[in-house]
Amino acid sequence: MSNYHIKHLEEYFQVYRKSIREPENFWEEVAEEHFLWRKKWDSVLDWDFAKPEVTWFKGAKLNITENCIDRHLATRANKTAILFEPNNPNEPSEKITYEQLYKRVNKFANVLKKQGIKKGDRVCIYLPMIPELAISVLACARIGAIHSVVFAGFSATALTTRINDCDCQMVITSDGSYRGAKTIDLKSIVDEALKSCPGVKTVLVAKRIHSKITMKTGRDYWLQPLLDEASSDCNAEIMDAEDPLFILYTSGSTGKPKGMVHTTAGYMVYTAYTFKNVFQYKESDVYWCTADVGWITGHSYIIYGPLANGATTLMFEGVPSYPDFGRFWEIVQKHKVTQFYTAPTAIRALAKEGVELIEKHDLSSLKVLGSVGEPINEEAWHWYNDNVGKKKSPIVDTWWQTETGGIMITPIPFVTPTKPTYATLPFIGIQPALMDENGQEIKGNQVEGRLCIKFPWPSIARTIWGNHERYRETYFSAYKNNYFTGDGALRDEVGYYRITGRVDDVIIVSGHNLGTAPIEDAINEHPAVAESAIVGFPHDIKGNALYGYVILKDVGETRNHDNLRKEINQIITEHIGPIAKLDKIQFTSGLPKTRSGKIMRRILRKIACKETANLGDTSTLLNPEVVNEIIENAL
Ligand code: WT7
Repeated sequence: MSNYHIKHLEEYFQVYRKSIREPENFWEEVAEEHFLWRKKWDSVLDWDFAKPEVTWFKGAKLNITENCIDRHLATRANKTAILFEPNNPNEPSEKITYEQLYKRVNKFANVLKKQGIKKGDRVCIYLPMIPELAISVLACARIGAIHSVVFAGFSATALTTRINDCDCQMVITSDGSYRGAKTIDLKSIVDEALKSCPGVKTVLVAKRIHSKITMKTGRDYWLQPLLDEASSDCNAEIMDAEDPLFILYTSGSTGKPKGMVHTTAGYMVYTAYTFKNVFQYKESDVYWCTADVGWITGHSYIIYGPLANGATTLMFEGVPSYPDFGRFWEIVQKHKVTQFYTAPTAIRALAKEGVELIEKHDLSSLKVLGSVGEPINEEAWHWYNDNVGKKKSPIVDTWWQTETGGIMITPIPFVTPTKPTYATLPFIGIQPALMDENGQEIKGNQVEGRLCIKFPWPSIARTIWGNHERYRETYFSAYKNNYFTGDGALRDEVGYYRITGRVDDVIIVSGHNLGTAPIEDAINEHPAVAESAIVGFPHDIKGNALYGYVILKDVGETRNHDNLRKEINQIITEHIGPIAKLDKIQFTSGLPKTRSGKIMRRILRKIACKETANLGDTSTLLNPEVVNEIIENAL
C-alpha cells in the first residue's frame, strides 16, 4: 500500500525515509495505485545529472486528461470540476461539472484536430482567466499537442518571442479581457505579435468582452461556432510517459526566455500527490488558488493537480482590489472555500487595507492557507495567520519553481508544525542540499548556503526547448551531480529550511520571476541609452521593486529626465509587460565594473537598498571613482 495521504508527523518521517531509501519502489506504488495507465512502465527511473537526463516511468502509456477527467465520470460526473468566478461580481459564477468538462474538452480537442493540430505540435494559449483557458490546455493534452501558455499580461514583443521560440502553429486568444474596471484588447496584442510570426497558421478567438476586433480572413476564427459544430467525443491520444506535455517560459540570466519542457507521467504523478498532501484535500473541499494559469502555479495547482484528484478548483478572472479589497473574502464566503493559496505580495497588499474588510465576511470555511512565489516576510505571515486563518488554519509556505513542476519544500498542514517565514521540510522524495562557494555540500544544521537538489523527482523539467546545452549549463554545471535552484537558503537547528532569495540575476517582483538581462536589453533599445543595470530593492508590497542605473549616450543630455524615465518604462512595457517597469531610474555617468568589464551588481544593489555604510572593497574596480557619484545621486 502506498501512503498517498499523509496524516501525521511520524508518518511523514516514515514515508519520507522510504522515498529516499527506495525511491523507485515508493513512486512505483504511488503511480500504480492512483492513476489510470494504458500500459505500465518498463522501468521507474533512469537518470544521469551529468548529461543531464531524467526519465520516469519509461515505456508507460497514458493520457493525462483521462486521469484528470474521464476516470472521474463514474463517481463524480455531477461534481463541480471548475468553479468560475468572473471579474464582475454581479455576473453569475459558473459551475462546470466533470461531465460538462469532459464534453467541452473533447469538443475543443476536435476543433484543434480539424484545424490540423496533431500530436507534438505546439499551440500558444494567450487567454485571460476564463474557463476556455483551462479547457484549451486540457484539449491540447487530449490530442497530445504541446501547450505553451503565455501569461496574458505579457506584451506583443514578449509574445512574439515565445511563439517563435517553439514554432507554434496556432494561437488561442480572446477578443479581450477584463481586469477590474479595465478592459484589455488581447486580440490586437496578438495581431501585433503575429506580424513577426510567420509560422502561425490559425488563431482561435474566444468572445469575452464583445469588443470590436479585426479578424484576418483565412487565419482568424471565432471559437464558439467551431465548438458548436464539433463532436463531444474525442479519443484521448495515447502518450508516452516522457512525451512533452507543455512548455512554459521563465526568465533567465540572458535575454532569451527559457522554454521549460515538462513531460507527461512524472508531472502528473507528482502534481497530484503534492496537491493531495500539501492541501490535505478532501472530497467535498472547494479549493482556490489565486494564481494565473499563465504561471506554473496555475498549471500544476489550478488545473492538473486538483483535477487529477477529482477536486473542485476555483478559477477567478479578476483582481484582489475590484470592486474593492474585500473581493477575495467575498469569494471565500460565497463559495465556502476550504483551501486558499495565494502569494505574499497579495497578502501584503490586502494587509495594508486593514482587517475591516475581512471582518465583514465569514471565512469560517477555510482550513488551509497557502503561500507561494517569494519568501513570505514575518509580518505578512502573522497577518495572514491571525486575520485570515484565525490562528487555526495552518499556513503552507510552499517553495518551488517553474522548473520543478511541483511543490518541493513545504509544511504538510496539520502534520508539520509551521514556523513563520520557513518553508520547513522537504516534501516526500525531495533531497535538498546546501552548498558552499567551493561547491562542497554543507552538512549539519544551523547552516546557510546555495540550495540544490541531489536526486531527481518525477516532475523535474526535462530540458529547455531547443537548447539542451543551456539546460545543462543553467542547472547542472554549478554543482556536480546536483540540480542548482538559483536560490539561497538556510537550515535551522531542527532541519527546517528558510529560503532567503535568489542568488543570481533574477529578481522576484510581486511574485513574478524577472531576469535583469531582458529588462536591460529592452532599456538599451532606447536611442538615448548607452548602457544600463537593474537591481532589486525591498518594497513594502511587491517584495522587491526594480532600480535601474542608466548611462545616457550623451551624458550631458538636456532633455527632461522625467520624460526619459517615462519613455524607458514605456519601452519595458512594450518589450516585456508592465510587471517589469522600474520604480526608480537613476542616470549616471558610469557603472562600477571589474577589470574584466563585469558590472558589480553587488555594489549597485547595496546603494539601491541604502546600505552604503559597508560597500566592501571597491579599490579593485576599474572605475572606483564612479561609486561616489552614484551614492551622491542615489534615489
Ligand atoms: C522562484 C521560482 C513556484 C511557483 C511560482 C514561482 C521563489 C517561490 C517561494 C517560497 C521563497 C519562493 C524562489 C524560486 N519562490 N516560492 N515559498 N519562498 N521563495 O515560480 O516564477 O519559477 O519562480 O520563486 O526564488 O526560485 P517561478
